[in-house]
Amino acid sequence: MKVLVTGGCGFLGTNLCLFYRERGADVVAYDNLAKHEFKRNPYMRPEARTYSRELLERHGVRVVVEDIRSRDTLLHYAEDRDYICHTAAQPAMTISWEDPELDFSTNVRGTFNVLETARRLEIPIAICSSIHTFGPDKINSELREEKTRYARTPVTIAEDEPLLQGVITPLHASKRSNEIYAQSYIDTFDLKVACFRLTGIYGPYQFGGEDHGWVANFAIRAIIGEPLTVFGTGRQLRDILFSSDVAEAFDRFFQKPIPGIYVLGGGEPNMISLLESIDLIARLVGKPLNSRFEKERFGDLKYFVGDSSRFHQATGWSPKVRPEEGIGRLIDWIKANERLFYKNT
Ligand SMILES: NC(=O)c1ccc[n+]([C@@H]2O[C@H](COP(=O)([O-])OP(=O)(O)OC[C@H]3O[C@@H](n4cnc5c(N)ncnc54)[C@H](O)[C@@H]3O)[C@@H](O)[C@H]2O)c1
Repeated sequence: MKVLVTGGCGFLGTNLCLFYRERGADVVAYDNLAKHEFKRNPYMRPEARTYSRELLERHGVRVVVEDIRSRDTLLHYAEDRDYICHTAAQPAMTISWEDPELDFSTNVRGTFNVLETARRLEIPIAICSSIHTFGPDKINSELREEKTRYARTPVTIAEDEPLLQGVITPLHASKRSNEIYAQSYIDTFDLKVACFRLTGIYGPYQFGGEDHGWVANFAIRAIIGEPLTVFGTGRQLRDILFSSDVAEAFDRFFQKPIPGIYVLGGGEPNMISLLESIDLIARLVGKPLNSRFEKERFGDLKYFVGDSSRFHQATGWSPKVRPEEGIGRLIDWIKANERLFYKNT
């Protein structure tokens, strides 16, 4: 099997490349090494920028430093591939309002190029959207506040919940456009596309950010002794999903390519709030975290627990890794790679 992973040197991309290498596939990681988290994470040492690339090359992945905005280059490297996993993105809400042009060119134009490449080559493709496309206002208005978390009845957000409810940012627009393009390529060209609406995902090879990858952001700060910032009450809740479960979902789609837009979340067993994750991380690392609170951020979706039954029915996929185990595995990776971070202890 020959796979092309766009954004192959990012968090999810690295996990996917290694997942397929372990199964004997020929893997190309296609990434421009923009690695947007560098702009916001002062704890990352310069060697963190090349970490994933070197790791992948040691595991026999071919790393191509190129941009998804260049369609001819993309087509060239995809020509002999059987499957495209598209994870390259500008993934953060904050960056989308600081640099809407970057958000558009990467997420809209770039994703269009990747879909168009798959159409020309007639190969299946899985792309990433986000649960943010539901929009914040309706879900936020249905919550009650409990001691450590927001709660809602029913607990699970239905897959056919209305989209783009309330005030939205350029990231909402670009991710929703990915879904619409995916649907149009399914309907018009009969292309085998899965568009995954991902909940908060986490795992090894994640450098985290305050608004993208908060589990890793908290865990890294806990280990290096750097204070962390919680925006809002900290009761925000997600059904977090571990990287190996996401990689498994990409592969299930390749095995059984029933096209569609699918919510991919950890469901009720994986519910955890920011405050609860801070407690869990403190217990796992054996020391309290130094957290401070700031006012909630524009566009923040305060609650998401997804219903992934459509993808389960299509492929049999279900998440396996629970937060305690997954966060433990993330912490093991951070501890084994402490040299990548500036320490404050
Ligand atoms: N991490 C999460 O919690 C989460 C949640 C919902 C959705 N998602 C989506 O999942 C996907 C993967 O997220 P991630 O956390 O792995 O992100 P990431 O930022 O870790 O990885 C993205 C990679 O894409 C690369 N890239 C950026 N622009 C590029 C370009 N123009 N050409 C080629 N490569 C480029 C970056 O260098 C980076 O290595 C994204 O689409 C993201 O929006 C992630």
